[in-house]
Amino acid sequence: MRALASAPGKVILFGEHFVVEDQPAVAVAISLRARVRAELTGDSVIRVSSRNLKATGKYSIPPAEEKDPLYPVAYAAYLAMNKAGETRGVNIEVDSEIPPGAGMGSSAAVAVATVAATAGALGLELSLDEVSKLALESEKIVHGKPSGIDNTIATFGGAIAYRKSEGFVKLNVDFSDLVLVLADTGKPRNTGELVKRVLTLKAAFPSVFEPLYYAAGRLAVEAAKLMERGDWEAVGSLMNVNHGLLSAIGVSTLELENLVYSARRAGALGAKLTGAGGGGFIVALCKKGEETTVVQELERASPRVLVSGVSERGVIVEAKS
Ligand code: MEV
Repeated sequence: MRALASAPGKVILFGEHFVVEDQPAVAVAISLRARVRAELTGDSVIRVSSRNLKATGKYSIPPAEEKDPLYPVAYAAYLAMNKAGETRGVNIEVDSEIPPGAGMGSSAAVAVATVAATAGALGLELSLDEVSKLALESEKIVHGKPSGIDNTIATFGGAIAYRKSEGFVKLNVDFSDLVLVLADTGKPRNTGELVKRVLTLKAAFPSVFEPLYYAAGRLAVEAAKLMERGDWEAVGSLMNVNHGLLSAIGVSTLELENLVYSARRAGALGAKLTGAGGGGFIVALCKKGEETTVVQELERASPRVLVSGVSERGVIVEAKS
């Protein structure tokens, strides 16, 4: 009994960090995916191997907490096994196209695909909501205080407006004339630590930070409407404003600023850091066919530039036997 599942990475277009404190945010699924194979075994352990990390791990059922990067994956598999009352072992193989530590939701996509693949191998029927909720439990190990936006977009795909206290709505957006250009600073960072740093600063200066958070939330709501209307010039302008707010709360870096300004200078409709910041990637919004100059400009300063569309596909069980 085995199954293969995949889930997409994501780009947050509006509202990262602010979403942790219950402001609305907007995210889209991208074409890069994490693939996870789960196979039942008879030996009462969870084995995890990651092609990307070139690492393997062996865990008890339930897995004992460990600091290694594969433990959250073992825990995600365990959550699906526990739901099915399963105590036989499982082998989990992870193969992901999503750069880790880059703000593209790699850990959430792996967690979502792991839950879905394990459930598939066990013959356990889970709703998408259940898959997303179990993946969030695994995300809490990785990030400490995740908002839930990453596992939601990895599960449901497309474009979503998300609020922690209210859940998400799918946005009805036509992305066919647009591409996202993603450029790496080459500096990985830790989402959990950045979230903690921002919250500490906010707690120190609540009267300064509250208006920034409110502005970011209104901005995301306004941007979602503009996206549905297809007013991409305005969406781009709001991405630039959102980047300014993220700089204000301290998560931009010189490398991120350089890439953001290069993308804008080369003709992007808008550009901002995406994800937790402190390194990782920027996202630039470009009209399809006009991205070449932006890509060329970014390649001068970035070790890795990717071009992606928005993917409607959320988590998929691709094969079961
Ligand atoms: C990480 O992809 C986005 C953050 O807002 C954290 C979260 O929402 O859990 C920085």
